[in-house]
Amino acid sequence: MALAGPAAQRAMRRCQPALFTRALPQPPSPPAPAATVVSAAAARRFSSTPPSRQTSATTEPSPEPPNPKLNSKQNTTKKRKPLTPSQQAFLSSALRVNQAGELAATLIYTAQTPPVTAREPHLRPLMQHMYDQEAGHLATFNSLLAKHRVRPTALYPLWSVLATGLGWTTAMLGREAAMACTEAVETEIGGHYNGQIRRLLEMVSEWEREGYEVGGEFTELINTLRRIRDEELEHLDHAVEHDAQKAEPHWLLTGIIRAGCKGAIWVSERV
Ligand SMILES: [Fe+2]
Ligand SMILES: [Fe+2]
Repeated sequence: MALAGPAAQRAMRRCQPALFTRALPQPPSPPAPAATVVSAAAARRFSSTPPSRQTSATTEPSPEPPNPKLNSKQNTTKKRKPLTPSQQAFLSSALRVNQAGELAATLIYTAQTPPVTAREPHLRPLMQHMYDQEAGHLATFNSLLAKHRVRPTALYPLWSVLATGLGWTTAMLGREAAMACTEAVETEIGGHYNGQIRRLLEMVSEWEREGYEVGGEFTELINTLRRIRDEELEHLDHAVEHDAQKAEPHWLLTGIIRAGCKGAIWVSERV
């Protein structure tokens, strides 16, 4: 697994406090210690707009609207609006929690696969397929964290232990419980990614309304999140198809796991 390697961990430790700018190439990291100070300074450096006019999306997002302009050719004569500090904080937090979640997903499948496939060898290709996709998601967020100098969650070791324990325990309870675990996790994660995508689309709409360029990097991030969300929902479908809802007691198992996911997301966005 890419993340567990010493090289990847060294790369993570080198990460600086959160800094996510839309200006390319990235500016050198200023030495200021506080992430919010650094972010605000970076935002001002590339801004042609008075800070009083910089706004962040604060309204409750509506369901994800279609946005055909995302794949259209960008007007390179337009300026890019720098991210506000709150937008930078949102992006840093989003990448951090996503990486933590994908780490947990790979560890759940790593722990589940031996007990599940020992009893039901025909599930090996499915378990391998879901693990491979999670490993790909994790590699994507490892790369984005390093690129944007976002620190990983400080609770990395805790999530690793809990995810492995969750995977092993549900697998020992049986195939149905293992699949119920996937059903519960992916239900929460699918909604989590949808929330991030809506927030990013609101930012895009705001920039377009104000006549700013969106930028290929931002568009690529949205498309990446959409692809990963779709793959998570595919895992949810696989779990239901393989009797997740026959787990006993299904309501209790999925309720506990979903509550745990919500808590882990909330904490990882902040710590
Ligand atoms: Fe994933
Ligand atoms: Fe998944």
